[in-house]
Amino acid sequence: MNKLLFLSIFLVSTAMAQEPSPTPATTAATTATMQKLYSTLSAILTDSSCDERFCSKDSHDRVGEELKTLSSLAHTMKDKTFSGDKTDPTLSVLSGYLNDEVNAAYSAFKAGKTEYARTLIHGLPSTCIACHSRNDNGTQFTALPMEPTDAGIKPIEKAEFYAATRQYDRAEKAFLDIIKSEDSANNDPYTWEHAIQQGLTIAIRVKKDPNLAKKIVDSALDQKKAAIYVRDDLTQWKKSIQEWLKEPKRSAVSEKALYKEGGRLISEAHRLQKYPMDHSGDVLYLRASSTYYDLIQNAPTSDHVSEALLMQGICNEVLNPRGFEDLHRLYYEACIKKTPHSLIAMDCYRRYERSTVQGYTGSAGTAVPEEVKQKLLDLFSQSVAKGTPAQVY
Ligand code: HEC
Repeated sequence: MNKLLFLSIFLVSTAMAQEPSPTPATTAATTATMQKLYSTLSAILTDSSCDERFCSKDSHDRVGEELKTLSSLAHTMKDKTFSGDKTDPTLSVLSGYLNDEVNAAYSAFKAGKTEYARTLIHGLPSTCIACHSRNDNGTQFTALPMEPTDAGIKPIEKAEFYAATRQYDRAEKAFLDIIKSEDSANNDPYTWEHAIQQGLTIAIRVKKDPNLAKKIVDSALDQKKAAIYVRDDLTQWKKSIQEWLKEPKRSAVSEKALYKEGGRLISEAHRLQKYPMDHSGDVLYLRASSTYYDLIQNAPTSDHVSEALLMQGICNEVLNPRGFEDLHRLYYEACIKKTPHSLIAMDCYRRYERSTVQGYTGSAGTAVPEEVKQKLLDLFSQSVAKGTPAQVY
């Protein structure tokens, strides 16, 4: 084991020992896996942070080892830690997502496509975030001692690292610093917009705090030269937050109340959206997805779970933080598997199919690879009422 990894494991165990005890749902095995994920992620982000480090022979070998470790951790998580009928099914969807992303990075690395592997490595924190920032469940850390070294780490990467490792206050501050940076708003709108989106995810899903969401939106609106389309979205988000502030403080916990609340938020979000990828309804979509996560977590065996998975797919398809993720398809797939041969499964299948076909469509037309066609056929037969003739692609 290299020194850095050893040191970080040591520091993590010491720091975590002082934190409040985890929620009862957290098993010792989960905590151990998470601590290993934390230290490996920390090490790999450091090793791949700048050209000199990433390209040196030593760290190249280490990155290979680190990817191998991540891959086996993600694999165990998917197959053991978060499986079982009574477990919250979103955990298995999201651990599968991490598994896919890590394996894509590892395959690219082994095939010598190091720059591509590096891009995928830098995207890994967003898969940790996708799982941790579903709602307000779980421990928050105020300051873990190990962090990627400064050299070559961009502010947005640092902020994401904090969010990925549940250091939400630190993450929030780091995202706000980017949002308040005029340089970022004027010259790097992609990163700037991403910082707003991630900041809002923490404020709305994790902290459920409309005042914090308002602070983020107000800070962004202070950037008068930012792109008009983002300012338009921000103006609408501000209205949604103001409405939220007027609502009586609700703490819906029963399955029925959460189901009703989720439905209300989704229909309001639909009402605001003028075209499928319009972001006007994002604040409401974030609130809705957090509500449906609460429902799934509180009642993992409820009859509403399949519909809640469909809604997660819908919310994620619109929110899609990086614009190319396919997490929504994993939700549609989980929905089909939860209630095969049902109307909801068919709805999930249609959305899965549309998103897949669009994904393989470019200026030269549509070219769906054979194995993907096979997968569509397979999901179709699980969705339709029994006895319906097979679809032809
Ligand atoms: C499938 C969902 C999922 C994914 C993906 C995931 N985690 Fe976690 N993580 C959890 C759960 C569940 C907990 C326990 C939360 C709680 O306290 O209830 C947790 C807790 C943690 C903790 C706190 C451990 C402790 O001592 O309590 C750390 C650190 C952590 N995760 C790091 C990571 C990192 C880094 C990644 C990405 C490489 C990651 N996790 C990906 C679900 C996930």
